[in-house]
Amino acid sequence: MAQNANTPSHVGIIMDGNGRWATGRSLPRLAGHKKGAEVLEGIIEHADDIGVKYLSVYAFSTENWKRASDEVSGLMSLFEYYLKNKLEKFKPKHGRLRFAGRRDRFSASLLEAIENFERETRDETGIQIILCVDYGGRQELVDAVKNIVSSGVAPSDIDEAVISRSLYLPDVPDPDLIIRTSGELRMSNFWLWKSAYSELYFTDTLWPDFDNAALDEAVAAYATRDRRKGGV
Ligand code: IPE
Ligand code: IPE
Ligand code: MG
Repeated sequence: MAQNANTPSHVGIIMDGNGRWATGRSLPRLAGHKKGAEVLEGIIEHADDIGVKYLSVYAFSTENWKRASDEVSGLMSLFEYYLKNKLEKFKPKHGRLRFAGRRDRFSASLLEAIENFERETRDETGIQIILCVDYGGRQELVDAVKNIVSSGVAPSDIDEAVISRSLYLPDVPDPDLIIRTSGELRMSNFWLWKSAYSELYFTDTLWPDFDNAALDEAVAAYATRDRRKGGV
């Protein structure tokens, strides 16, 4: 479907609540993550259908390494499974998969799966899916500062544009709408710089219960917002 004037071009989602969804059903937390991954597959299709151009999803934060080692390794295996098994299903839809986050803490096989998926979809011109894995907004700024300092730019030449183009995916526009599921009212280190003027939408729905209608509801709420961006 074509994008209309009120469709957000870039939607970011903090996919939260997998653990509570599983615990509420007396299942291991990983069962919630598996269900969450299935839900994401459907949401990617629906976002594309309604004209979203960029969908960024927060899948693992720089702080999530603190969790129990079996949960962390289960999540890493789940990422790798999807990246290795879903390329064939994803490719015909002409979407492009990209990653935002650190890349130095993954296993060699996960990193290879990430790089392979990126390479295989690099020239696609459809919806861009940005998987934020080992992503932290503060870490992104740390990495940007390192890039800026090593480029030798003079302090007097540093402005917002210099910082913007030193961040992870400089060509990806700022999110218009950021959705957080599960009732938590915080950003948890997501898109620290790019979210300056994003519209925020919070829902109590746990991520594994999120569906097309829930996305439509968030987009409808966005359509009513007055984005003044400091103007009147
Ligand atoms: C979000 O669900 C997924 C990740 C952070 C990896 P959680 O695992 O945080 O679920 P809750 O918040 O504990 O319910
Ligand atoms: C934010 O969720 C990160 C992801 C959804 C990947 P968390 O569950 O880690 O956030 P906090 O701990 O509730 O702030
Ligand atoms: Mg959580």
